[in-house]
Amino acid sequence: MKIAVIGTGYVGLVSGVCFAHKGNQVMCVDQDRNKIAFLNEGHVPIHEPGLQELMKECMERSLIHFTTDLKNAVQFADLIMIAVGTPPLPSGEADLSFIENVACELAKSMNGHKIIVIKSTVPVGTNHRIQRLIAHLSPFQFQIASVPEFLREGSAVKDTLLPDRVIIGVEDEHTGYTLKELYSPYSEQIMITDIRSAEMIKYASNAFLATKISFINEIANICEKVGADVTQVSKGMGLDNRIGAAFLNAGIGYGGSCFPKDTQALIQIAGNENYNFKLLKAVVEVNNDQRFGIIRKIEQAIGKISGKCIAIWGLAFKPNTDDVRESPAIDIVRTLIQLGGTIKVYDPIAMRNFKKVLDAPSITWCESSLEAVDQADAVCLLTEWEEFRKMDLSTVFARMKSGILIDGRNLFTPEQADAAGLEYYSIGRVVNQSSLRA
Ligand code: UGA
Repeated sequence: MKIAVIGTGYVGLVSGVCFAHKGNQVMCVDQDRNKIAFLNEGHVPIHEPGLQELMKECMERSLIHFTTDLKNAVQFADLIMIAVGTPPLPSGEADLSFIENVACELAKSMNGHKIIVIKSTVPVGTNHRIQRLIAHLSPFQFQIASVPEFLREGSAVKDTLLPDRVIIGVEDEHTGYTLKELYSPYSEQIMITDIRSAEMIKYASNAFLATKISFINEIANICEKVGADVTQVSKGMGLDNRIGAAFLNAGIGYGGSCFPKDTQALIQIAGNENYNFKLLKAVVEVNNDQRFGIIRKIEQAIGKISGKCIAIWGLAFKPNTDDVRESPAIDIVRTLIQLGGTIKVYDPIAMRNFKKVLDAPSITWCESSLEAVDQADAVCLLTEWEEFRKMDLSTVFARMKSGILIDGRNLFTPEQADAAGLEYYSIGRVVNQSSLRA
């Protein structure tokens, strides 16, 4: 199939490359000239495992091209996929200006029948709004479809090539059939539904996953008070198929470009219909509080933060990505600085992006995990990178001024920390060095 993908962010680029990988002819469009030049040189502007290799392979087979010429791409394609951003407005609502601008340009460029797929996460009703906009500007026939995206950053290629399910929202059987054909090499679990339900499935899925995280974080906070171990609780709960083990890892809360934005947007979507989404509001509130719990743990461990040196391991909102958008680390490092601490940070790949968001004279940017802990009063783990899991904790202890490890992601076990001599604080587990020895 001939496909034009508009927008070369995470979703657009990964979708385009994966369509090309399956033998489709793909043109990826972006208005950012530098980005397109970079892509045309074979470089990938985001850190995403496997993407560079797959893109190179598709370029060598001439199955993918990158351009700023939207008109040419639209005229080339049978299917046009819109994958531009819908960032949050100050009200929490999704900003639809990018998608509307693309729709206008696309409409004016059409030269015949097209299927137009909206991949961007958009409030219920947006597909129909875009449909009216295009119909107003173009004399040509077209069908609109909502195919929401469920890929995760850090495993985007894998999630796109092997998705748990594909949701296709359409108005007519024929478009549903064509899209089912397109997606059948990826998944056997393809659900065809109406457009509004497809739009809602995306928000509801992200809101539900966010709810699971906030739920387990509250259970963790209660575990600390009653002496239970949240990792055991999650494991026990997850054994029930109705609950499932995924997304029950307690920690410092969710971040990233999706959950914070989509939960706010769904609250707003409900609010616009005079519906007070009480549960989701609480999920957001719990998540905002959770990141500050770690500050209280640091204070509990080392006393006043003023004048102390704290090492931070991990800045990305999760491992395997250099993305720091809405990362809990931003609020945590900012608060530590406000409280008078000096901070030594290390992240395998996210330091450059973090520095753009938060830089201060009291931050030292370190080149390794060990450099960060040198003479530190405490080390605080905020992202569960594999590199940290493999650390020799005895060496860490030897390099520190006082051996205190605050594990915001429960990456280590109390036993590992104890064996290395470290005083250990984690999430939802009361055990620390002294209580272990008692
Ligand atoms: C999320 C969804 O998982 C994807 O299905 C969806 O396509 C995407 O949003 C989107 O809407 O585009 P992503 O934001 O890449 O994907 O990351 P996740 O792996 O879902 O993690 C989100 C946050 O939750 C991270 O900060 C992570 O550390 C946190 N998390 C996750 C926990 O705190 N505990 C868990 O058990 C799982």
